[in-house]
Amino acid sequence: MKYRHLGRTGIQVSELSLGSWITFNNQVDVDAAVEIMAAAYEAGVNFFDNAEAYARGQSEEVMGAALKKLGWRRGSYLVTTKIYWGLNDGINEKNTLNRKRLIEAISGSLERLQLDYVDVLYCHRPDRNTPILETVWAMHNIIEWGQAMYWGTSEWSAAEIVQAIEIAERHHLHGPVVEQPVYNLFERQRFSGEYVRFYTEYGYGSTTFSPLSSGLLTGKYNAGIPQDSRAGTTKMDWLQASVTDKNNLAKVQALESIAKELDCSLAQLSLAWCLKNPFVSSVITGASRVEQVHENMQASEIAPKITPELLERIDKVFGVHLEEDGD
Ligand SMILES: NC(=O)c1ccc[n+]([C@@H]2O[C@H](COP(=O)([O-])OP(=O)(O)OC[C@H]3O[C@@H](n4cnc5c(N)ncnc54)[C@H](OP(=O)(O)O)[C@@H]3O)[C@@H](O)[C@H]2O)c1
Repeated sequence: MKYRHLGRTGIQVSELSLGSWITFNNQVDVDAAVEIMAAAYEAGVNFFDNAEAYARGQSEEVMGAALKKLGWRRGSYLVTTKIYWGLNDGINEKNTLNRKRLIEAISGSLERLQLDYVDVLYCHRPDRNTPILETVWAMHNIIEWGQAMYWGTSEWSAAEIVQAIEIAERHHLHGPVVEQPVYNLFERQRFSGEYVRFYTEYGYGSTTFSPLSSGLLTGKYNAGIPQDSRAGTTKMDWLQASVTDKNNLAKVQALESIAKELDCSLAQLSLAWCLKNPFVSSVITGASRVEQVHENMQASEIAPKITPELLERIDKVFGVHLEEDGD
C-alpha cells in the first residue's frame, strides 16, 4: 500500500481506503464487517469512511461494533463520517448544516461509532439556506472541542469551497482541508475540471468515491443484473438504468482488452485509473464481501503499469478525446 498526504495536512492516508455506504448493515453485518475491515487493514488501509445517513445511523453502529471487536490501536487508523441529511424530519434536523444540528449530530455519530473523535468530519452536501460562516464556525468549534481532527466538504461547488476557505482564513478558524467528490471513468468532469484549482492553489485534499460506479466498472452487469449485486438488491431502482444502459456496457466491454493486456481485472484497472490522478489523496472503495477487498487492494500494483499511451486509449473508450476536441 502506498500513502499520500491528505492535501496539505500532515496526515497520510492509504491511497486505497474503504467505505460503508449501502453495504454495512444492509449486506454486511458486524461479523462480516470485521472480516472486510480486517482484510483492508492487513492490506495497509488506514482510512475508513462512513456517514450519519448510511442505513440511518446503523452503518456507524456496525463500524463501531466492528472496531471494538478488532481492537486496533486508535492511532493506527482514521475514521471519517459525514453530516447533512439527518436522521429525523424536524424542521431544523434534515438537509442542513446549521450550528445546532452539526453540534448535536457529531455527538450522535461518536456514540454510534463508540469513538472519542473522528479524524475527518465532512459536510455531506452544501446547505444553501445556512450562511457558510455559521457552518465554518460550528465545524471550527467541533475541532476545538476535539470531536474531529479535520473537516471537509462533499460535493460542494468550487465557489462554496473557496468561500469556506476564505471565511476561515479571515476569522482565523479551522477551515476545510478535503473534498469528497465522485470520481470514476464515467464521472470525472467536476474532479478533472472545476475542482483542479483547489488542488493546485489551495492544496485541498480529495477522498474520491464510487470508483467502480457502484460495480458497473467490474463488468458484473454485462449479462444482466445478478441478484446478489448492489443493483439487484431492493430499493436500488435508481441504479438499474445506468448498469443496464447499452452505451455504458459497451464502454465497459471495450475496456476488457486493456485489462487483459495488463493481466488484471476490470475492477483493478478502474481503481488503478483513479490512482493515476495525482490530485487524489485516497480512492474510497466499497465491498460487500471480503474477496472483493482482496481483489481491489491489488490495484496499487496495476497503477504504475498504466502508461500515458494506455491512458489515451482508455480516454478514447470513454469518448473523452471526442468531447475535448469538439469532434
Ligand atoms: N460523499 C458521498 O456523497 C458518497 C457517495 C457515495 C459513496 N461514498 C463513499 O465512497 C465509498 C465507496 O463508494 P461505492 O461503494 O459506491 O464504491 P464503488 O467501488 O463504486 O462500488 C462498490 C460496490 O461495487 C461492488 N464491487 C466492489 N468491488 C468489486 C469487485 N472486485 N468485483 C465485483 N463487484 C465489486 C460491490 O457491490 P455488490 O457486491 O453489492 O455488487 C461494492 O459494494 C462508500 O462506501 C462511501 O464511503 C461517498
